[in-house]
Amino acid sequence: MVALRFFTLAALATCATAKWIVPGARWFDTEGNIFNAHAGGLCVDQDSGKFYWFGEYKSEGQVEGGGVSVYSSDDLATWKSHGIALEPVEGHEWISPQNVIQRPKVIYSEETGKYHMWWHADDAKYTKLVQGLATSDDIAGPYTFQDAIAPLGNWSQDFGAFTDYKDGKSYALYSNGDSKLGRDVYVSRFNDNLTDVEETIFRFNKFDLEAPTIVQTDKSYYALMSHKTGYRPNNVVGFRADSLSGPWSQPFFVSPAYTRTFSTQSGFSWRIKGTKKTTHLYMGDQWDSVSLWESRNVWLPLEIDENEGSIEVLWHDVYDLNVKTGEWKAITGKTYYSKNAKTKGDAYLQEANFGSNNVIATGIYGNDSTITFDVTGQGKDQWVSFYHQNTDDMGYGDQPAGSPDRIGGAWQLRRISSVVVNGDTDNVHTLYQRDTHKGIIISSPLLLALKKGKNTITIGGLSNGVDYKGADLDRIVVYPPES
Ligand SMILES: *[C@@H]1O[C@H](CO)[C@@H](O)[C@H](O)[C@H]1NC(C)=O
Ligand SMILES: *[C@@H]1O[C@H](CO)[C@@H](O)[C@H](O)[C@H]1NC(C)=O
Ligand SMILES: *[C@@H]1O[C@H](CO)[C@@H](O)[C@H](O)[C@H]1NC(C)=O
Repeated sequence: MVALRFFTLAALATCATAKWIVPGARWFDTEGNIFNAHAGGLCVDQDSGKFYWFGEYKSEGQVEGGGVSVYSSDDLATWKSHGIALEPVEGHEWISPQNVIQRPKVIYSEETGKYHMWWHADDAKYTKLVQGLATSDDIAGPYTFQDAIAPLGNWSQDFGAFTDYKDGKSYALYSNGDSKLGRDVYVSRFNDNLTDVEETIFRFNKFDLEAPTIVQTDKSYYALMSHKTGYRPNNVVGFRADSLSGPWSQPFFVSPAYTRTFSTQSGFSWRIKGTKKTTHLYMGDQWDSVSLWESRNVWLPLEIDENEGSIEVLWHDVYDLNVKTGEWKAITGKTYYSKNAKTKGDAYLQEANFGSNNVIATGIYGNDSTITFDVTGQGKDQWVSFYHQNTDDMGYGDQPAGSPDRIGGAWQLRRISSVVVNGDTDNVHTLYQRDTHKGIIISSPLLLALKKGKNTITIGGLSNGVDYKGADLDRIVVYPPES
């Protein structure tokens, strides 16, 4: 049943020529396989100018090992797989299938003429806390393991990399672990050969943050980091400075409070200097702690106000990015409110002053308590965004409800709804609905095949391992087909 569902989705996705960026969707490569590259980073090929994305590869059920996958693209939306760039080696001290191989970043070294891949290398219990290095002549790999290094003798956990476009120098960004002696984030300059860090430029002391990335503008550096809540998202914070060595500002939120940065963790960012505009992208991870391999990528444009010294992650369900000009535009869809939809069984509209029309649809459960929207389609595959509230707040059933942002819990993280188009129950779509804080509405997208003219979209509840509750639903937005 599950396998069949994925097959159907993959088949559906290959028909569509992906050009738009849809944050949080299940992404597929040009062969129709899941885009399986998490906590990654971009690098540009010196010869072709193509983008290459490197990320953690996970097979179903896998936590450690997995290696580093690589994909290439001309537009940051269509991705061709090049397989595994760093293959785990059975019995190897640092890259065996039992090792932690996390947050890979690749940087080109002019000096060595090679691509240098760095990552957080560790054992499964995080007792080593070092940086792995592998190199390759070819950007797509295969990469050969070189070394595992304690930077300037210290620990290194979540790993990020940053290259200053003004002088070409590269930096390792890393948190130094969770112990009382650690809990700092380092900005350390690499040597020119990119074989080790040579000097710490700044240390963010005792903020206990992780997953650092740096955004550079003509005037400023903005460092974005996540709180430490394991694979659960939280409100990412930013710092601003004129110089990498500081002084840095106080930390501040980079997205609307309590959205947990739209259910993501920071990790990477990219500057697109186009012919008309410079656009900075936030490239966050939407981890699925229940099944890591199903984690999603959330890439969103950043809004920077140099006068305020602020940087903000802007949410868009679907947007069109032109990597040549640097311009992007949000796609406009048609909104359908729960208030005008049909509820069935125990599903009903409840007063909610934060909801559209002062209500939200709740009690969505299993196959019998559903909500159905009448929508107009254009006879194509169309993105549909479902705006939900999930009040579990990372607690569920007998789990510690109401203790958000706590390390060590065993939370569900999301409910799962079933989405059925035109009553076709042989083709049930699974909609993952992340926890939100109470009163916070965020969206998740699905690509649905709609008929020309009238369609129905019915939302019920699927099992998430605990029960069949769907999240509360505020509205859905149907986007026009891409071509
Ligand atoms: C940098 O790499 C080049 C090429 O591999 C090598 O000749 C040189 O000795 C290296 N320099 C240092 C400081 O390691
Ligand atoms: C790492 O640096 C911290 C300060 O940031 C220091 O207290 C700690 O002892 C260092 N650990 C090692 C192994 O050098
Ligand atoms: C809903 O229907 C599906 C398929 O008929 C079934 O597998 C599932 O158990 C049903 N869910 C509930 C809560 O009854």
